[in-house]
Amino acid sequence: MTRSTATSLRGGARTDGGYAAGSLTVHRSPAEIAPVTRALRSAGRKIALVPTMGALHEGHRELIRHARRAPGAVVPVVSIFVNPLQFGAGEDLARYPRPLEADLEACREERVELVFLPGVGDMYPDGADTTVTPGALGDRLEGAVRPGHFAGVLTVVTKLFHIVAPDFAFFGEKDYQQLILVKKMVRDLDFPVSVVGVPTVREPDGLALSSRNVYLSPEDRPRAATLQRALAAGAAVSARGPQAVLDAAREALATEPALQVEYLELTDPDLGPEPQQGRARLLVAARLGGTRLIDNVPVQL
Ligand code: PAF
Repeated sequence: MTRSTATSLRGGARTDGGYAAGSLTVHRSPAEIAPVTRALRSAGRKIALVPTMGALHEGHRELIRHARRAPGAVVPVVSIFVNPLQFGAGEDLARYPRPLEADLEACREERVELVFLPGVGDMYPDGADTTVTPGALGDRLEGAVRPGHFAGVLTVVTKLFHIVAPDFAFFGEKDYQQLILVKKMVRDLDFPVSVVGVPTVREPDGLALSSRNVYLSPEDRPRAATLQRALAAGAAVSARGPQAVLDAAREALATEPALQVEYLELTDPDLGPEPQQGRARLLVAARLGGTRLIDNVPVQL
């Protein structure tokens, strides 16, 4: 595969200058993919973007399936880019898994026809001096533990939205604060895109799928499911009010001494103050060995 050249990975006639129905085409630069998605839109197709950092798992596949089911004559586009801007000093940028061939195979299996696979120089040719600021919500929860993380996320998502010009964009509820911040940015800054959240996909023991689960040691892997058990314990007593939810979740987390809990919070569905009744969200983050885990569930108080 050559750099900066659109590459068709299976047979099939090229149309629209870089889109071949029935085959996977990989575009490596903004200048390559932007005219392709715009030509498709002019031809009446809808573009459904699934932004990823690769290391695709069943959760990403579920995003792609939702993208395919969006209304209209949809063309799903998967972007794969490990965005350095959203990693803090000492985080896992260098060791983040990058199984490119397996990712492209997953895209083929999900019948994706367009993949956007830029390099860092393609996305940030002049560095990243201009960024998008998330506002106060970006400094809470994940943002308090990972300063600057959401500015990095919103900056790259903004660029992806401008480059790919999607009608729809799909994000997992696993990264719930990211989903809420992207929705807020789209509202606040008038992006012409519908942001769709997709429920978390879980392992049989309840562990939320994440590309970072590969970091878990064999001993820690079963312990990691404690997070989901704690959230479920909280949700199970939701009729007894917010304090009971938090107490039950905290008690379940305490059963696993190896977990270092960073936060456990009950918020409204937009991550605002804890409600006394109605819809709420229970969120947790913890460290287990060298791995950070996050999870969340909806709760009806
Ligand atoms: O959720 C992710 O994988 C990333 O944060 C995203 C949205 C692709 C931006 O880099």
